[in-house]
Amino acid sequence: MAQKTESSHFEKRVFKPGAAFSKAARIKSMADYHKLHAESIKSPEKFWAREAAELTWQQKWTKVMEWKVPFAKWFLGGKLNISENCVDRHALNPARKNKAAIIFEGEPGDTRTLTYQQLHREVCKAANMLKANGVKAKDRVIIYMPMVPEAVIAMLACARLGAVHSVIFGGFSANAIFDRINDSGATHVITADGGWRRAKIVALKDNVDSALKMGTTTVKRVIVLKRTGQEISMLEGRDTWWHDEIAKVTADCPAKGLDSEHPLFILYTSGSTGKPKGILHTTGGYAVQTYVTSKYIFDLRDDDIYWCTADVGWVTGHSYITYGPLLNGATVLMYEGAPDTPHMGRFWEIVEKYQATILYTAPTAIRAFIKWGDEHVRKYNLSSLRLLGSVGEPINPEAWMWYHRMIGNERCPIVDTWWQTETGAILISPLPGATPAKPGTATLPFFGVDAAIVDESGKEVPKGAQGRLVIRKPWPSMLRTLWGDKQRYADVYWKEYKKLGYYLTGDGAKRDKDGYFWIIGRLDDVLNVSGHRLGTAEVESALVSHPAVAEAAVVGRPDEIKGQGVVAFVTVKTGQQASQELAKALKAHVTKEIGAIARPDDIRFTTALPKTRSGKIMRRLLKEICTGGEVKGDTTTLEDFSVVAALAQSGKEED
Ligand code: PRX
Repeated sequence: MAQKTESSHFEKRVFKPGAAFSKAARIKSMADYHKLHAESIKSPEKFWAREAAELTWQQKWTKVMEWKVPFAKWFLGGKLNISENCVDRHALNPARKNKAAIIFEGEPGDTRTLTYQQLHREVCKAANMLKANGVKAKDRVIIYMPMVPEAVIAMLACARLGAVHSVIFGGFSANAIFDRINDSGATHVITADGGWRRAKIVALKDNVDSALKMGTTTVKRVIVLKRTGQEISMLEGRDTWWHDEIAKVTADCPAKGLDSEHPLFILYTSGSTGKPKGILHTTGGYAVQTYVTSKYIFDLRDDDIYWCTADVGWVTGHSYITYGPLLNGATVLMYEGAPDTPHMGRFWEIVEKYQATILYTAPTAIRAFIKWGDEHVRKYNLSSLRLLGSVGEPINPEAWMWYHRMIGNERCPIVDTWWQTETGAILISPLPGATPAKPGTATLPFFGVDAAIVDESGKEVPKGAQGRLVIRKPWPSMLRTLWGDKQRYADVYWKEYKKLGYYLTGDGAKRDKDGYFWIIGRLDDVLNVSGHRLGTAEVESALVSHPAVAEAAVVGRPDEIKGQGVVAFVTVKTGQQASQELAKALKAHVTKEIGAIARPDDIRFTTALPKTRSGKIMRRLLKEICTGGEVKGDTTTLEDFSVVAALAQSGKEED
């Protein structure tokens, strides 16, 4: 797949960090970066051990790393508690205990601040509440909550006991909850009556109720936080209120020393089959790498007000709202709601109100802001900002430039951070005081990360050529397995380069003359919609579960705001009529099955799908049809070309 491309296609503009920023930063120059990176690749164990020593270990490790492809262990023999490291370490430090750990702004405008000392108390109480309700180490606990401090408190409370949390994004449907409960074998659910989103209530508890009615599950108890206050139903013996339970317990809950490889959380993400993958992260390595990346990439200082706009339901919310920043003793700003509620300047109003210094958001949000117009930004004073970040998908240069000009006032470095749910922490990113940025590239690998772009045989492709992004050595925060499916773990990530022991990211990329990594996008059947992963197979199986649908094929097409939009090609069963009403019903059906994020933007009915002679749907051709172009690719394996011709024609008529 390696193909030569002209290196002149690379963006030429270069933005060096300002001298004042570099001077105060931890890593001040490219010379410093290269030196430390080279050392960290030559002796990764030395680098990671030095950094790990900055955390609190109840028992020190005896061995830094063990690698038996594809299974890695880090800090073997070590015992620690990530909740102790996020909370107690700062709450017991006289200089930090009264510092704000979480500053919260609800969508309706309610606010709350928790100091480290208060957070410590809340986490201890929540852990005792879980214990009193039967949660034990290694039990799986589903967290399905709005973006309120209790979501973070619940995560830290689970970690304190050694229970494994699995946070489900509040936008997911009852079906998605049911699947995740069953796959993880969860015994407890922590939820809320609802959350606020665009001035409406997201009925979280109702969704949990529906999920638990879909079949028998392992769930014994549901703990419900009161947030929105509407009437909900509580099932006697199963459901209980957070405020009632928390009132019964004390704030005394010493953090349990856990093995470094003790499971910390499962987070489900899309793959190329219909079944989401339960990515398993463990304690020690994850703690060390989220700590270190937050420290160097956001260059955290004690007086920062750090705001990551992600939801805790995604990995960004795990690693860069909860764990990474709190491990560093940072002040984390948390906002519950939508960026356009009650007005399109809400984000900028929040930046001004709390004097945020670091803003970490996604290209899809930036593109929406551009569309809404600069006047919503201009009303506010953003001079407190000193650093900007981007995550989730390649940032297009126009969005980068707007972010740089309008939000950063041409003064704030931008860190474009590449990583995945699987990687646990940022692997490729500029260091803000050192790396000259170019709009659209995540630039260079972080310390200890051996990234390369290779061909099918594992050989590095020449500069400028496109290939597959791989990581050649294990790293501390890497996923350990897929929950309950070691074989799939080995197959998806390691089979391709088994002998070499390379991790396959699934992304295509190329490098420019400076060695910068330019991520092109996914090479598998995974879409990136608004920075979130969505498997085409997941949407397809939701569509075919509708009684009118015979077959469905889903592909992505470029979308101005979302990065990729979802297009579904659908054939209906005999006797069913393709109609506008059915298209509407199918969109609603997908929303119900998975969540609004997966709702197709466009449903195209067809009498047949293009297939190979062996019956495989040729999505590549559908993609070409969607992007409006002629079908240029190889069609020799196609069974019946007239199907493609008809589809291409119908697309044109609609346009
Ligand atoms: O394709 C890459 C893209 O998002 C994928 C990972 O998705 P997920 O596991 O949901 O995690 C998203 C948040 C870490 C990657 O395989 N991606 C993420 N960040 C970037 C990116 N593509 C280009 N540049 C980025 N900065």
